[in-house]
Order: sequence, then structure tokens, then C-alpha cells
Amino acid sequence: MTNKSKSFFSHETIEKNVGILIILSILVISFAGLVQIVPLFFQHSTTQPAEGVTPYTPLQLAGRDVYIKEGCVGCHSQQVRMLQSEVLRYGHYSLAGESVYDHPFLWGSKRTGPDLARVGGRYSDDWHRLHLRDPRALVKESNMPGYSWLQHKDISNVDLKPRMNALRMLGVPYTEEQIANANKELAGKTEEDAVVAYLQSLGVGFINALRAKETAQPATQAVHTGG
Ligand code: HEC
Repeated sequence: MTNKSKSFFSHETIEKNVGILIILSILVISFAGLVQIVPLFFQHSTTQPAEGVTPYTPLQLAGRDVYIKEGCVGCHSQQVRMLQSEVLRYGHYSLAGESVYDHPFLWGSKRTGPDLARVGGRYSDDWHRLHLRDPRALVKESNMPGYSWLQHKDISNVDLKPRMNALRMLGVPYTEEQIANANKELAGKTEEDAVVAYLQSLGVGFINALRAKETAQPATQAVHTGG
């Protein structure tokens, strides 16, 4: 090896020049990243809603905003991964097409509490209300904070129109009529009503469509382990 004349792009030249090494590493990583990421912008499975997935109703949308405001995403993820343990616990793994109407998405990365991607329909509305007000009344060992004030926060005067117009610009198919009538749906409602409506909507659209298709063979049942 020692007698061979070194070509400019030999390993030795690259490894001995930190500048070239960095530039080439960046090039390789960027290329690899682009090859993985760019096709996702054009794949139907990532850009089109999964079967049964519909845009949030105004009340659910208001609840989603409360969810963001209260930082629920700091303790709860919304993505069931393709692992057997997750699917057994939470239900069918999440599909990219279930998040197309989420701007921003709330997949999260922290699981102090359980994943919520399929929590819709798992409990009654009353369960959620009690749980939000005082989690330990229902789950003794829970370390989730109580959100007892949500029930007293009236949202009748929240204006959802700008929010829905912005979402429409991002591709959520709200009609003029839906946007015009949005605020009416909030009349007399509280932040608690909105969060409960939002939680009950999570993950159900796709599962209902799936169940309708395979009525003979129901989709995997979510198993609640109590956190
Ligand atoms: C400090 C972390 C933390 C925060 C913040 C938090 N939670 Fe939780 N959450 C938990 C833990 C831990 C559990 C499991 C024990 C229990 O059920 O209370 C839980 C359970 C839940 C459950 C029941 C899930 C299931 O499958 O049993 C729901 C629904 C829920 N949280 C909603 C919310 C909402 C909505 C917010 C924001 C308003 C929120 N959480 C904020 C920690 C948190």
C-alpha cells in the first residue's frame, strides 16, 4: 500500500482532511435522507386520508386546541407503532393517512401516560370528565394532573373561523358552510366538552371503516391495562 500513489479521493486523503470528510458525510447523509423522505410527499398512503378518516368537527377542533394548550402531548403520544405489544395494548397500529388532517400533528415522543391514538370510544364521556377533573378518583396510582378548571371555561365566544380557514388552506376540505356555522357548535360548551369530543374522535374513523369491511372478523380489540 505504501508504494502506491494515492489518488485524490483515496480513503486516506478523506480521512486525514476533516473538512473534506465533513462535506462528503453531509452529502451522503443528505442524499440518503432525500431518497427516503421525498417519495413520501407523493405517496397516496401518506398524503390521502385513510379510509373512514374525516376532518375534525368544530367542537373536536376546539378540543384539539385545548389539548395542545394544556400540554397533553408532553405526556401522551398519538402513534401506535407496528409492534405486537403495542397493537395488543392499543389496537391497530397508526397509519400515516390517519394524520393528514392534523396540522400540526400530535404524534408526540413522550409516554408518561398511555398512547391516545385509539382512545376514542374506549371509555364513556362521563369517564373522561371524571378522569380529567380528578385522575386519581378513577386510577389510584395515576400521576396525571387534574384539569378541573376545563369544565368552567366557556368556549361559546371562541371564533373558529380563522382557524378553519387556515386548515382549509393546508388542504383540509372544510366547506364554506361548515366554516360559517362552526361557531354555533360551540354555543354553551366548555373546554371540557371540547376535549372529551376530541378524545372520543381519536382513531375511530379508520377502525369503524375497517370493522364495517370485515364484520365477520372484528378488528383487534384494544386492551386497557390501566396505564
Ligand atoms: C404529567 C403527565 C400527563 C399529562 C400532562 C397528561 N396526562 Fe393523561 N395520563 C397520564 C398518565 C400517567 C395516565 C395513566 C393513568 C391514568 O389513567 O390516569 C394518563 C391517562 C390518560 C387517559 C386515559 C388513557 C387510557 O387509555 O387509559 C386519557 C384519556 C388522558 N390521560 C388524557 C389526557 C389529556 C386530555 C391531557 C391534557 C388535558 C392529559 N392526559 C395530560 C399522564 C399525563
